[in-house]
Formats: sequence, structure tokens, C-alpha cells
Amino acid sequence: MSDRQDHPDRLTVGVVGTGYVGLTSAACLAHLGHRVTGVDIDARKVAGLCRGEVPIAEPGLDTLVAEGLARGGLAFTTDLRALAESDVVLLCVPTPTGPEGTADLRAYDAAVDSLAPVLAPHCVVAVKSTVPVGTTARTARVLGRPAVSNPEFLREGHAAHDFLHPDRIVVGGTDPSAADRVAALYDGLTAPVVHTDPTSSELAKYASNAFLALKVSYVNVLAELCERLGADIADVAETMRLDPRIGAAFLSPGPGWGGSCLPKDTRALLHTAAEAGVDFAVLAEAVAANRHQHERVVEKVRQAVTGSTEGSLQGSRLGLLGLAFKAGTDDVRDSPALAVAARLAEAGAVLTGYDPGVDRDGFPGGVVQLVDDVTLVAKDAAGLVLLTEWPEFRELDWPHLADLTDHATIVDTRNLLDSATLTRAGFTYFGLGR
Ligand code: UGA
Repeated sequence: MSDRQDHPDRLTVGVVGTGYVGLTSAACLAHLGHRVTGVDIDARKVAGLCRGEVPIAEPGLDTLVAEGLARGGLAFTTDLRALAESDVVLLCVPTPTGPEGTADLRAYDAAVDSLAPVLAPHCVVAVKSTVPVGTTARTARVLGRPAVSNPEFLREGHAAHDFLHPDRIVVGGTDPSAADRVAALYDGLTAPVVHTDPTSSELAKYASNAFLALKVSYVNVLAELCERLGADIADVAETMRLDPRIGAAFLSPGPGWGGSCLPKDTRALLHTAAEAGVDFAVLAEAVAANRHQHERVVEKVRQAVTGSTEGSLQGSRLGLLGLAFKAGTDDVRDSPALAVAARLAEAGAVLTGYDPGVDRDGFPGGVVQLVDDVTLVAKDAAGLVLLTEWPEFRELDWPHLADLTDHATIVDTRNLLDSATLTRAGFTYFGLGR
């Protein structure tokens, strides 16, 4: 990462909300040389951040925060009045799903209302939160100043890297000088900048996440078809990947897509389309296919563990490997692993789970007994189910784990493991789509 502390066009930046997007934006913009203040209503979190304690597991973020704090280019507070001198304020508050799939804008609206009396006349507001189409224009009206839509595309687990190496920067504004100021935040990053109107910018964010969801649903259904036809999804997906029009990423089958964004944003886009009178059936089908995928994993486990599609899982001890919604994060929000676990528990299974990234603090509990030692998920298990693609699972002592189980059966919903290695270790191995 380059040292751009002496940024010639250093801006004074306020960041409202210090979640994944807000904290990453604050730390990275400070790294790029801007003078950044992050504001959050959570006093404990702010106190921790002031001491350099980063509450999320994001590679490199703690270093960036420490660097910013040490240099004085980064500060955190609960007091919005600290943003009075800001040239740009980024809104990074959460917009969770509300009733009927609409975005719940209460936190967002509260932040906007609180900012109104604070901001200097020249300050531009940039909307980084994923917000329904029309929200940026409404924000501009409420605040009586230019607002620019500037969606964020970073992935959890790669947040700092993605912020500093974006594929694209989107600046949606009607006021050219406000849009230019927001674009100037990213001077020094090499990425195409899409200048557009706020409506297109807001929609582009939903469109991107929904398309990723669609892609994974497509490959998950294809995997099912492969099983029926005797084809191998790995080879089918590899063939597709080599076509640049399709793209190499997001073609790995799994237990379904999840996380804090794809489920929320597909619901919100479906709602927006319905309100606009557009039948977005292809996206609705992708959402339905995702639910079906959770059920399909349960049926696969039933078949693997009981040897029959009709077998009962009542009282079966199952060990779950991975609970986070994907590898590289401790986040279990809307995790497909938990959706599958809920269905397995409904079928009567008794569940123990291990995840190298998830500890008791971040775990909601419920139907899975969380353990911190992988041997405990294997002990006396009727079967193992791998649900998150942590690379370290490849290195486990599989012969030892096989010995610990009652029945050395494993369903690998991520096709992560080498079936020959597992078979040699004594397991009966089931992947997806092969
Ligand atoms: C997603 C987008 O990828 C980011 O670009 C976006 O900025 C972010 O949402 C957001 O809106 O904030 P993220 O939620 O971190 O990022 O998760 P992804 O990496 O997109 O993964 C989503 C889900 O799809 C995970 O459950 C993952 O395991 C699953 N997936 C992904 C598959 O099952 N197969 C694949 O081939 C790829």
C-alpha cells in the first residue's frame, strides 16, 4: 500500500456508521491521505476504535486503523458535531431488510436528520449505504444540498483490499462539482469511474448483487442437473469460466448464497421492480432456487447418512464444518450454513458445529452447539457436513476424524475436499454435482 499521507487535495471527510463499509472506508480514505473522522452511535465500539480495536475480522484493516490513528489522519467519535468542517460526509449506516423486503431506512433517516444542523454549507453528502432508488435525491432535498450516490462493492473478508483496488467507482450525482468532489476522494486509485445520475447508480448496486445471486443459483441448479445426468459440475463450470463473456467467478456450487447483502439486496430489488410494475421473474426464481438449495442439502445429508431418501434423521448426531456465510469471515448473518442447520434440526438431527472464524461472542446459538475443537464435531457423529469453504479444512487430520465418528460419512457442500484423500481416510464422500 502506497504512502499518500501528503495528498495534495486532502479532503476533510466524515464517515457516519463504522460497520464493514464505514470502518473500511474511513481507514482506507485516511490511508489515501484524507483527514477522516468516523462517527458511530455505539459508544463502546467508538471507545474501542479509538484504542485501535477493530471489531470485525478483516485482513489488513487493523493495520490501516492503527496507522491512521498514529498519524492523526483518522479519528472516531460519537459526536456528529465533529463533522462540522467536513468537505464530504459519507453515509454508511446499515439498511437492513424491513417488512415485505423493503429496506428499513430508519437508521439512515435518523442519521440524515441529525446531520442536517451540523454540516457546513459547502459540504457534499455521499451515500455509500445500499439504498432504494430515489433515496439519494430525497436526501438532497431533506438536507438542502447536493447528495451523490457512491455505492460500495467491497466483499467481506477482502474489505480493505477491495476498497483500495476497486473494479469500478460509481459516482451518481446531478451536481457536477459535488460529483467531482466525491470522485476526488479516490484520486490515486486505478479504476474506471462511472459518472451517472443517482437513480442509475443506486440501481447499479442492486443489479450487481442480484446478478451475483442469480449466477450462484444458476450453478447450484446446474449441479443438481449434473447429478441426475451423471455429469461433473467442476468440468461444466470450468468450461463456462473460460468464456470471458460469462466470467470466471461465482460459478462454485454451494449450500446457497447468503450473507448480509445478497439476500437483502435481491429482496429489495424484487420489491422495487414490483412497485415499478416490472415482472422480475428471473430474479424471483433465483431466490426460490436458493431456498430449494438449502432443502436439497438436507435431502443429500439424509440420503448419505441413512442410505435412503425416506430415512429419518431423528436423533442423528451431525457435525457441521463451517458456519460463516463464506470463508474468510466471522459473519453468520443470513448464513446458508445456519439455514441448512435449521432444517436439519427440524428433521430431528442433533448438531455440533465448528468454524475457525466464529466464536461464541458472534454466534447466535440456537440449534447448533458451537465447539472450538474440530475433533468434537467428529466425535460419535453419524455424519459430517462441510458448509463453509475454509481452506484449512483441507489440512485436517481426516483419518483421525474418521476414527472418531460413528459413521465416517461426509457431505461436502462446497466441493472443497479431495474425494480420493477422504476416501483413503476412511470416509464415504459426497460432493455436489458430481
Ligand atoms: C457481496 C458482493 O460480492 C460485494 O461486491 C458487495 O459489495 C457486498 O455483497 C455488499 O453489498 O456489501 P459479500 O456479502 O461479502 O459481498 O459476499 P460474496 O463474496 O458476494 O458471497 C455471497 C454468497 O455467495 C456467499 O454465501 C458465498 O459463499 C456464495 N457464493 C459465492 C457461492 O456459493 N458460490 C460462488 O461461486 C460465489
